[in-house]
Amino acid sequence: MVAQRVRDIEISGIRRMFEGAPAGAVNLGLGEPDFEPPAVVVDALVAAVREKMNHYGPSAGLTALREKVADRYRAADPDIGRENVIITAGGSEGLMACALALYDPGDEVLVPDPGFVLYAPHARLAGATPVTYSLLEARGFLPDLDEMERKVTPRTRALVVNSPSNPTGGVFPKTTVERLLSFADRHDLTIVSDEVYDEMVYEGQHITFAGKGDRAVVVNSFSKMFAMTGWRLGFLVAPRALAVEINKVHYHMIACPSTPAQAAVWAGLGAAEEATAAMRTEFRARRELVVQELNRMPGIRCVPPAGAFYAFPRFTWPVTAYVAAGDLLKRGLITTPGDAFGPLGARHLRLSFAASRPNLKRGLTILHQYATDMAGRRRTP
Ligand SMILES: Cc1ncc(COP(=O)(O)O)c(C=O)c1O
Repeated sequence: MVAQRVRDIEISGIRRMFEGAPAGAVNLGLGEPDFEPPAVVVDALVAAVREKMNHYGPSAGLTALREKVADRYRAADPDIGRENVIITAGGSEGLMACALALYDPGDEVLVPDPGFVLYAPHARLAGATPVTYSLLEARGFLPDLDEMERKVTPRTRALVVNSPSNPTGGVFPKTTVERLLSFADRHDLTIVSDEVYDEMVYEGQHITFAGKGDRAVVVNSFSKMFAMTGWRLGFLVAPRALAVEINKVHYHMIACPSTPAQAAVWAGLGAAEEATAAMRTEFRARRELVVQELNRMPGIRCVPPAGAFYAFPRFTWPVTAYVAAGDLLKRGLITTPGDAFGPLGARHLRLSFAASRPNLKRGLTILHQYATDMAGRRRTP
C-alpha cells in the first residue's frame, strides 16, 4: 500500500492539462522558454562529455561552479562564498531539499495563494501543514503583512516567498522584502525564497533575499535563465550552517548534480548574459502583445505582469477555471487553470508567453473565440 503522505497529494494541474492534451494542441501551459541554451553552454556540454566528465562529482556541486554562483550574490553580501552554495537538480529539487531539511511534522509553513504548485505539497510531504497567505490582484499581487500577522502561530516554522511570481507575475519592491524580513525576524521564521525568475523582470527590479541576515534560503535555477529546463540544474544559497544540513538531504535525494551540465553552465555564467538579455527583451515584447490582446477579449481583464513570463488574466465567465481550461483543451489550447495555484486563482487562467510568437497567436485566437462564445452567458461577479 502506498504511504499516506503520497495518497494525500495530487499531480499538479499544470501537468494534468499538459498530459491530457490532444496531439497538436498549442501549449501555453508549461513555463518553458522556446529558446535553446546559449551556444557557449551547449558547446561546453558537448566538450565536457567528450572530455570524459561523465562521472559522479561532489554532492554540493563542482567547486568552481559554486564559486561562480557565489560571485553572482557578492553584491548582495560580500561574505557569500561557495560554502553557502549547493548545486541542485533544478529549483524543484532545491525546494524539496529545503522542505525536508527545514520542516518538522506538525510545523506550519506560510505559502502564497495563488502560488507555485510545489510549495504546499512539499510541506505536506515533510509532514508539515501549509497555511496560505493571499496575493490579491487588488493589492498588486503583493502580500498583506497584516494578514500574515494574523496567520502566524507558535507552530509557524517557515515562510515561502516567490518574486518574480509564478503565476501572478508580481515582483516585490524593496519595502516588501524589508517588511517580510522583519516579519520573519519577529517570529523566528526561515524564509524560503524562490527566485527562479530573477532574470525576467520588466518593471521595477529584482531584490534578492540572499545575504540579508541569516534568515533566508534562496532557491534558483538555470532552467529559465539559460532556457535549459530539460537539463535539470539549479542552485540554492543558504546560511553556511544551514547549507551543511540541506546538503545531507540533497545527497540522499540525488547523490550529486549532473557533472557535464555543471561544466556547461560554469562556462555560461559570465559569458552568456547577452543571450539571457535577448530572451528578456523578446519576452517583454510578447508580454505587451499578449496583455493587449487579452484585454480586447470579452469577459477578460489582464494586469501586466511585472516579471516572470506568465499572463494571469481574470475572467467573468460563469464557469470554474478547471472547466474553462478543459473547454479550451478540447479546442486545442493548453492553459493552466488558476485554481491549480490555490483557491484565489479560481477566476484566472495562466498563459505562458515564453511560447513562440506563432503559438501565442494561434493560442490567443482560440481563446478569443472562446471568450466571444462565453460572452452571451450569464456573468459571475
Ligand atoms: C516558481 C517556480 N519555482 C521553481 C520551478 C522549478 O523549476 P526547475 O525545477 O526547472 O528549476 C518553477 C518551474 O516552473 C517555477 O515556476
